[in-house]
Amino acid sequence: MPHSLSIVILAAGKGSRMKSPKAKVLHEICGREMLYYSIKAARALSDDVIVVVAHQKEAVLTAMERYFEGLTFVIQDTENFPGTGGAMMGVKPKHDNVLVLNGDMPLITEHSVSEFMKCDSDIVMSVIELLDSSGYGRVVIEEGHVLRIVEEKDASDAEKAILTVNAGVYAFKKHVLETYLPKLSNANAQSEYYLTDVIALARNDRLEISPLIVEEIEFKGVNSKFDLSNAEMIMMDRIRREWMECGVIMQLPQTIYIEEGVRFEGECFIENGARLCGDTLISHSHIKAHSVIEQSIIRNSDIGPMAHIRPLSVIDGTHIGNFVEVKKSTLTKVKAGHLSYLGDATIDEGTNIGAGTITCNYDGRYKYQTIIGKNVFIGSDSQLVAPLTISDNVMIAAGTTVTSGNIESDVLVLSRTPLKKIPGFFTKFFGKGA
Ligand code: UD1
Ligand code: MG
Repeated sequence: MPHSLSIVILAAGKGSRMKSPKAKVLHEICGREMLYYSIKAARALSDDVIVVVAHQKEAVLTAMERYFEGLTFVIQDTENFPGTGGAMMGVKPKHDNVLVLNGDMPLITEHSVSEFMKCDSDIVMSVIELLDSSGYGRVVIEEGHVLRIVEEKDASDAEKAILTVNAGVYAFKKHVLETYLPKLSNANAQSEYYLTDVIALARNDRLEISPLIVEEIEFKGVNSKFDLSNAEMIMMDRIRREWMECGVIMQLPQTIYIEEGVRFEGECFIENGARLCGDTLISHSHIKAHSVIEQSIIRNSDIGPMAHIRPLSVIDGTHIGNFVEVKKSTLTKVKAGHLSYLGDATIDEGTNIGAGTITCNYDGRYKYQTIIGKNVFIGSDSQLVAPLTISDNVMIAAGTTVTSGNIESDVLVLSRTPLKKIPGFFTKFFGKGA
């Protein structure tokens, strides 16, 4: 199948109902732009995936080229040929079977797309039965035959009452597109060239049009921010389920947020409220309640509750406790149990980071590295002023501000203001009998 099918994804529209300066197809669902998901499904089935762009085309191209190689982009002439029909006019598919998808359908799957190929009609079009059909093109069917699709803005009251709608995915024989696209007119409420009008033209010539009844959940068009949030909930359910089926344990899964780029290995345990983002790998680890992990690698570790692991951290064999923030740091067999900031740091095995330790990595202009060797004991409430290298087997006393850039092995480092005791001060200050 991959070599007999071209897939065109329409992604040129403005998406004005999103009320956003961002192109509709670039709005994200589970950490990836919604267009990514339709391209992913298309790529699994075709070696000829064509994406039609126009509005914010550079941004759409740049975003998709981060994930996919070898896509064909076609730029729609939206000025002269607006609308979904206009979008198809510059497309030159390689194969005789052409599947058209809307770029605002992130929930579509490879399986449902492949269903369209089972029928060999001139046109196979997707149809959903809804209780509320508003927003969709209505499908006019008489005596079992599809006659035409009427867009909501062009529909009469009787047509608006039709509950059978166009889901927006079609399989065309290439010759059908070649014959009818040039015949489309823009004499309609939106002065656009509608791809949906190909159906009526083909019907007049007695071509074979097969409606394929599809499941609403996979064909939901995202046209508003409310639709976006609904689509994200559905996608999130799928992601969680897939990982649970691979052996990940999730406590109260409905409260766990996992993005598309996250990967798990082995038996991981994810507690409620965790937020796992970006290209993250979690391997044989326990992520405790309400921790946030962004674009990092976590192996054989336990994190949280309420810890924040920021991008580009690599944490192995390590215990990270509550209210610890780690950024762009590599921690190997380390303990950082409470209330710390570890940024731009490399910390080696056997090292203990006391509560309240801060790597002071920023001087207001530049960021600097902190390198800590093996078996270092950092006492509570220490400030490590970077750039700083601490060798193996060093002890930093509690409350020390380490400012010297190099600490050699086997020393105690201590900076303390001498303790003063002033007898009778309490009574004097608060008055007798206080
Ligand atoms: C479209 C269908 C409607 C169907 C619905 C299903 C048409 C005329 N209408 O309506 O029958 O029920 O999808 O979700 O096709 N696009 C372009 N260039 C354009 C305009 C749109 O590439 O000039 C792209 C958009 O980026 C989007 C897709 O086509 O990904 C659909 O456009 P949209 O405006 O959402 O169409 P709907 O009004 O939803
Ligand atoms: Mg739409």
